[in-house]
Amino acid sequence: MTTHSGATITESAVLQALRSVEDPTQHQDIVSLGLVRDLQIQDSEVSLTLAFTTQPPATKAALHSGAQKAVSQIAGVTKARVKMGSATQPAAAAHAAHQAAPAPSADFIPDVKHTIAVSSGKGGVGKSTVAVNLALGLKQSGAVTGLVDVDVYGPDVPLMMGAKGRPGMFDNKILPVEAHGIKIMSIGLLVSEGEALVWRGPMIHSAVQQFLRDVAWGPLDYLVFDMPPGTGDAQLSLSQIIPLSGVVMVTTPQDVALLDVRKALAMFRKLNVPVLGVVENMSYFMAPDTGKTYAIFGEGGGAKVAEEFGVPLLGQIPLEIETRKGGDTGMPVVVGQPGSAQAAAFRQLAAAVTARVTALSGLQLPRIG
Ligand SMILES: Nc1ncnc2c1ncn2[C@@H]1O[C@H](COP(=O)(O)OP(=O)(O)OP(=O)(O)O)[C@@H](O)[C@H]1O
Ligand SMILES: [Mg+2]
Repeated sequence: MTTHSGATITESAVLQALRSVEDPTQHQDIVSLGLVRDLQIQDSEVSLTLAFTTQPPATKAALHSGAQKAVSQIAGVTKARVKMGSATQPAAAAHAAHQAAPAPSADFIPDVKHTIAVSSGKGGVGKSTVAVNLALGLKQSGAVTGLVDVDVYGPDVPLMMGAKGRPGMFDNKILPVEAHGIKIMSIGLLVSEGEALVWRGPMIHSAVQQFLRDVAWGPLDYLVFDMPPGTGDAQLSLSQIIPLSGVVMVTTPQDVALLDVRKALAMFRKLNVPVLGVVENMSYFMAPDTGKTYAIFGEGGGAKVAEEFGVPLLGQIPLEIETRKGGDTGMPVVVGQPGSAQAAAFRQLAAAVTARVTALSGLQLPRIG
């Protein structure tokens, strides 16, 4: 029970205090570096873990005592417990669902109105396909849109968008590549195929920070992020460094896919990233010759999980040959076959996302830091 008469200790007050602790080698505070995990506040007692990566032992010790001191000094805190952890230990990933969110700094991209992550519990469910066609659907509705591929292990966006060439530089900023009227950035545009596969956490982390800070996005209504699959460290640390307005979760109607999507949804909840809703991809197959529909991967899964989490089902996208071909040829179905049923489904998705973002942004508290 709380006995002191002071105000309740809030997560934002703790994170604010932790922002005063800076890594001397990286010249950044421990919250921005995504080191703060597992933040728990129990009345007047605060505990957290510092998820170290490659810091030398002396730095780890200094950051640990700095964090301990910063938290102890918050008015009303009677006990501060700072544990030393490692971001690369499997235990850290297992704890994913319990980790608290340091609020990422939106200052990186001040001219971007809304940032939307397209995510999934597992790979191959159509995340990149949805991210690309959603971004194009938003663009077609009149919004100025950018698309960032942060799936460094499978950067499919350049191929799907038919984007060629390397990003240029101007005024010390990286210029995004334009394709089908939207600005895109991907690791795939910067390094040769396979090179990013050997990257570890900190390198991905700084590459993505660069995509935010050092790319001349200009004013954008939407910046869409194609995320890596799963609830592992890559997804987790990205969600901590990208200031997200919300996440769109892609699933298929299948039960196995739904198990993973539940885990991922729970993770974003814990990270305080608003869940915009669920998109059920490969919902049904429509035979092009007869128009008959077949529920190849089952039925109703997306609606079920959306209901369970109290979020809208934003769209159902049919399984369709042209959608796959569009991705393979760099001519996404929304632009390649704008009159098709799939393109209409993606445009409806874009409208549902816009409506939800608008509704939520009216409710959101101002960001700290
Ligand atoms: N609605 C659809 N109809 C037909 N094919 C689709 C559909 N959605 C995705 N595909 C195809 O399925 C394959 C996997 O899709 P995609 O690459 O978008 O998934 P992903 O979740 O991004 O995968 P990864 O986890 O590997 O990044 C691709 O060949 C894509 O063209
Ligand atoms: Mg992908």
